[in-house]
Amino acid sequence: MAGTLASEPESIEAYLSAHDSKSLLRFITCGSVDDGKSTLIGRLLYDSKLVFDDHLSALEVDSKKVGTQGDDLDFALLVDGLAAEREQGITIDVAYRFFSTDTRKFIVADTPGHEQYTRNMVTGASTADAAVILVDARKGVLTQTRRHSYLVSLLGIKRIVVAVNKLDLVDYSMEVFARVEASYRAFAGEIGLNDVVCIPISALAGDNVTGPSAHTPWYEGPSLLGYLESVPIDDDQPDGPFRMPVQLVNRPDPEFRGFSGRIVGGSVRPGDGVRVLPGNRESTVARIVTAGGDLDHAITGQSITITLSDEIDVSRGDVLAGMASPPGVADQFEAHVVWMSDDEMLPGRAYLLKMGAKTVGATVAKPKYTINVNTLEHMASTTLMLNEIGVCNLNIDQPIAFDPYSENRDMGGFILIDRLTYNTVGAGLLHFALRRSDNIHWQAIEVSKRAHAELKGQNPCVVWFTGFSGAGKSTIANLVEKKLHGLGHHTYLLDGDNLRQGLNKDLGFTETDRIENIRRAAEVSGLMVDAGLIVLVSFISPFRAERRTARELVGTGEFCEVFVDAPIEVAEERDPKGLYKKVRRGELAHFTGIDSPYEPPLNPDIHIDTVRTSPEEAADRIITELRRMGRLRPT
Ligand code: ADX
Repeated sequence: MAGTLASEPESIEAYLSAHDSKSLLRFITCGSVDDGKSTLIGRLLYDSKLVFDDHLSALEVDSKKVGTQGDDLDFALLVDGLAAEREQGITIDVAYRFFSTDTRKFIVADTPGHEQYTRNMVTGASTADAAVILVDARKGVLTQTRRHSYLVSLLGIKRIVVAVNKLDLVDYSMEVFARVEASYRAFAGEIGLNDVVCIPISALAGDNVTGPSAHTPWYEGPSLLGYLESVPIDDDQPDGPFRMPVQLVNRPDPEFRGFSGRIVGGSVRPGDGVRVLPGNRESTVARIVTAGGDLDHAITGQSITITLSDEIDVSRGDVLAGMASPPGVADQFEAHVVWMSDDEMLPGRAYLLKMGAKTVGATVAKPKYTINVNTLEHMASTTLMLNEIGVCNLNIDQPIAFDPYSENRDMGGFILIDRLTYNTVGAGLLHFALRRSDNIHWQAIEVSKRAHAELKGQNPCVVWFTGFSGAGKSTIANLVEKKLHGLGHHTYLLDGDNLRQGLNKDLGFTETDRIENIRRAAEVSGLMVDAGLIVLVSFISPFRAERRTARELVGTGEFCEVFVDAPIEVAEERDPKGLYKKVRRGELAHFTGIDSPYEPPLNPDIHIDTVRTSPEEAADRIITELRRMGRLRPT
């Protein structure tokens, strides 16, 4: 067997060390299933004799069973993963494929859609040297081709090979190829991709994939494999400043305390001074420890454990950096954001931002603009939809160490995660920090929350009522307030309708406005808790994410979520303000529960079934719960 093929991630290390002396090219393929991406990779592996024999016989059986190519081998099946997935005709398997030829070894990120590789590339999991962009000769350069190319250029991949595929279906026409090439080059030039090679291929028939084709005598350039074997590789930059995000604090015994991670920039030696960021502590490297013994020098790409000469505080997610040119530390940025979720980006919604080993809370502001990938125009927008690319400001809830993505991919690439589902919803590249926050300080106030609370003889908290309009939130909240007042407690009731007449009068009922409405209500309730009050908050507050943010604004045990539950039909029947009737007459749109979503609490502290419980009983239950939580003065 001339080559090796492995598809298990565990074998990466073994594979790389077996081929140590050869250079390594990492590349990605961009294109959809229809463009023949899987067939092309399968063909590359097959024609370079890199497929194990047992894979081959399985392939022959499968080609007959589920293949799309009659009795011929269906190369797409080689990379399309498990049998069950094959039979559904979709590519689910996300894997890195490894193969090698006599001159070079390769890692190709073989992923179903561009969402996956965007995520991988941005997080530095696969830093590609080159991109193979597939274009169907019959269709030419499509919006998708432009989007992929724009992303590739954004991510800093400079070498592009355009595989103009399915040439067999256009009779190996030189004119068709020339047209596609000209139109691609025109676009590539505009986005700064200058190192572009176009190759006429048929992945299915094998033309110009691993060797020249008799069908294209007019083409004199390299085959795809020939190109991949000879394209120059830009090595990581070991000359840049030293950077190592700490992935693990390694403390096997009291004697040893090491910080493990992969060097993502520069190099390091024992004796070097290092800064630990974002905390900005300093120390000196004592040892560089690896499984194979101590090193006296380590460079970009190596995974190591560093011990320091001082006992300073270092945690997972901190960055060890050289004393010269340390990274920036900030909590507000401008960034490119690529949206990857079916649900649009909601400005102001609390997401998680993950960069390297660090995860922090983040909100994204309304985009400054989005990019039309066809015309490259900047468009005004209030959100980002699936696959849209925009430039936005970001706020995170604690400072992090970073470099602009253009200087260091690992220190400036991040993903955004939904806090409730943990799905990746976006990916982004940091441009620069916004300095505004440097000038605003938290003013120390001498009369503390505790002092406020003690004077009032109570433990402050937020009682948060959520539910449909007409469910009975305000009625119950009013009763609770009256009872607490009667017991001598200091309270305040924040009501959605009332706040919307003053503080929130600029807000309507779009999702974005509701998020801002709840954010303000939560902030105000937090201030009132600081002032020692028991705050009752009565808002529809339709989204789990914002209710959770409200909970996190106050201390543990200071938040009580009350789900005032009435089925929508019941709320509609009660219709205390006549609003449901208006909705039915078509005079009111985006009404919660009718044509605007409501996410019921999954684990409310108190669940009130308003069909079976009177407001009086509901109020008593809430008072009992507040007493149990230790919020009220003992009777
Ligand atoms: S929230 O969704 O942003 O939390 P909030 O509680 O402030 O809503 O305001 C809801 C109140 O506004 C309702 O009780 C109702 O009186 C009124 N309202 C007017 N239009 C709407 C609408 N489209 N959806 C829901 N409530 C509306």
